[in-house]
Amino acid sequence: MTQPRAFITGGAGFIGSRLAARLVDQGAEVTVFDSFLPQVHAGNPGNRARLEACGARIVEGDIRDRAAVDNALREAAPDIVYHLAAETGTGQSFDLPARYSEVNVMGTAHLIEAVRSHGPQVRRIVLAGTRAVYGEGAHVDAEGRLVTASARDDDAMASGDFEVRDARGTVLTPVATNADCSVAPASIYASSKLMQEYLLQQAFWGTGVAVGVLRLQNVFGPGQSLNNPYTGVLSIFCRQIQEGATLAIFEDGEITRDFVLVDDVVRAFAMMGSAAEMPGEILDIGSGQTATIRDIAGRLLELFGASRDRLRVTGAFRPGDVRHALADISRARDRLGWTPEVTLDEGLARLVEWSRTTAGTEAEAATARVGA
Ligand SMILES: NC(=O)c1ccc[n+]([C@@H]2O[C@H](COP(=O)([O-])OP(=O)(O)OC[C@H]3O[C@@H](n4cnc5c(N)ncnc54)[C@H](O)[C@@H]3O)[C@@H](O)[C@H]2O)c1
Repeated sequence: MTQPRAFITGGAGFIGSRLAARLVDQGAEVTVFDSFLPQVHAGNPGNRARLEACGARIVEGDIRDRAAVDNALREAAPDIVYHLAAETGTGQSFDLPARYSEVNVMGTAHLIEAVRSHGPQVRRIVLAGTRAVYGEGAHVDAEGRLVTASARDDDAMASGDFEVRDARGTVLTPVATNADCSVAPASIYASSKLMQEYLLQQAFWGTGVAVGVLRLQNVFGPGQSLNNPYTGVLSIFCRQIQEGATLAIFEDGEITRDFVLVDDVVRAFAMMGSAAEMPGEILDIGSGQTATIRDIAGRLLELFGASRDRLRVTGAFRPGDVRHALADISRARDRLGWTPEVTLDEGLARLVEWSRTTAGTEAEAATARVGA
């Protein structure tokens, strides 16, 4: 597709605003539909500024409002829809199940009906999915056989045993996960994101609208809200380091994650839009590398010139947290020609640089506004 008209729900967010700027750069006409959720945007005006600078059209609206979605979609007349609008906090979702369901599930249903009623020219919809739908993800037993992992047990974790086991209690080894792994969402957030996949795939099955799903690992980088306590562990660490706080590391510090830089993720979305034929399989998007949270916290402390000891492994654990996450990115490479380009160290350096400069200024501006 060349120079398409793109409609991005959640297009003012961390990933969406960068995607909008990239698509405009590539010659697309971009409309962003976003409610500018205060939890995400307070003290983080950079994303709106980026949209204004690139010339994307901004429609401020709530995806829970069917008429607002209808109107915005009708006016934008897009060829392609990127669906990123969502409530995104795993822990918060346990406290706000209705809000998470209304935004993530009903919001997706509104989008489907709007496309059906007012978007006859829409040919592609790309969903920002999440690896959270896998729960603990793919594991093998001592013989190297793929085994289904059980949800971890509260009592075991309270006694300091954080291992992932099979149904018989045998400790398992994590391996890279792809969409062949069965889904086992472990939070209301993850369940609502899985519903988004199902709704879109079922609504457009057998129609001329192709649905693509990118299941993202932990996305990080400059621009992720430093003030949202519910998402973005590395941004939260950056803020805490700058405030002089000690970093609290959950469980025994050995939780692992696959952190992928936002620029690489945005490139994957853009490639879904421009691929001659959009991959129909679900694609996993991550760095394909894993690191412990303790190690990454240490690297961040070092980049800020602080002692690596300024962290405390707490033994605390949270519902919805999984032990290990690592993407098998071979399908994204084979079907889309995508591979991540930025190493974790380079990405962390960019994050620290940004949070030292821009973010500090933005946080001050926000505090001043709140105080005014
Ligand atoms: N960042 C990650 O690590 C990650 C990982 C996996 C999946 N994802 C998915 O990627 C997408 C984008 O995530 P992000 O990190 O950019 O988050 P973000 O919070 O920065 O962006 C989400 C955007 O959606 C908007 N929004 C929220 N509720 C809305 C509503 N009711 N109506 C309209 N807009 C609304 C917010 O204002 C925000 O701008 C989400 O769907 C998320 O589930 C993100």
